[in-house]
Amino acid sequence: MKNLFDINKKKVILTGGGTGLGKACAEVLCEYGAEIFILDINKDLQNICEEVSSKFEGSVIGKIVDLRDRSQLENGFAAAIDELGTVDILINNAGLQYRDNCESFPLDKWDELLEINLTAVFFLCQLAGRLMLEKKSGKIINIASLSSFFGGYSTPAYSASKGGVSQLTKALSNEWAKHGISVNAIAPGYMDTPLNTALVGNPDREPDILARVPADRWGVPDDIKGTVIFLASKASDFVSGVVLPVDGGYLGR
Ligand SMILES: NC(=O)c1ccc[n+]([C@@H]2O[C@H](COP(=O)([O-])OP(=O)(O)OC[C@H]3O[C@@H](n4cnc5c(N)ncnc54)[C@H](O)[C@@H]3O)[C@@H](O)[C@H]2O)c1
Repeated sequence: MKNLFDINKKKVILTGGGTGLGKACAEVLCEYGAEIFILDINKDLQNICEEVSSKFEGSVIGKIVDLRDRSQLENGFAAAIDELGTVDILINNAGLQYRDNCESFPLDKWDELLEINLTAVFFLCQLAGRLMLEKKSGKIINIASLSSFFGGYSTPAYSASKGGVSQLTKALSNEWAKHGISVNAIAPGYMDTPLNTALVGNPDREPDILARVPADRWGVPDDIKGTVIFLASKASDFVSGVVLPVDGGYLGR
């Protein structure tokens, strides 16, 4: 059973791997020898891929794609399959946050956020799932949030999207687990990444947040790495439909 966490040469499609938690996913998957194709809007993607590839055993390449645009998403997925030959592991990580009160939250921001945080997740699961169903194996990891469990404050679209990611993960698992596909989600807690620049160090918000984190600190991108390898590997073959918190104990309070 020594190879329980082996993902050497596995083919991975990862969204939003350019910064934050997605970059941590790319690093650990590459360290474990996987071949990764990133879809990200980040203009610096090429350099990021070279930087990660140069440090580790596996390989990382990518394509600049705006996941709000469905034809770009479909072309990006096709480019990934052309390059990798197949997909063993899909990680839907790219996501956006917009903050505004419910009564004034603009509908165009709602549409934009739901498109990337939820619809793109479903579309990519569908595209990857069709190939995984043919070969009767696959690992899908969707990045959810603590907002999958509670409503948050002044983040109506984000909370709705992440609640949706949680339910979608279970719906996909219900149909696909019997075909050898594990579909799970990771719910990161409060992590110090570019997504949270409005909160980290903010004297009005930070003390309340940290007071509720038993680990008494912000999470860092490295904190997600072990869970990603677990859910991407054989170690989790009988785990499906789960939304796994990586939150420093927050949900236990
Ligand atoms: N940081 C946290 O505390 C936290 C907590 C819970 C969940 N999450 C979730 O984790 C995921 C990653 O968050 P993060 O904190 O690393 O955020 P981040 O802002 O650091 O990174 C998001 C990534 O998504 C990419 N992206 C954004 N819009 C895109 C688009 N239209 N097309 C393609 N790529 C796009 C960005 O370029 C970036 O690489 C998100 O789904 C987020 O909701 C984060």
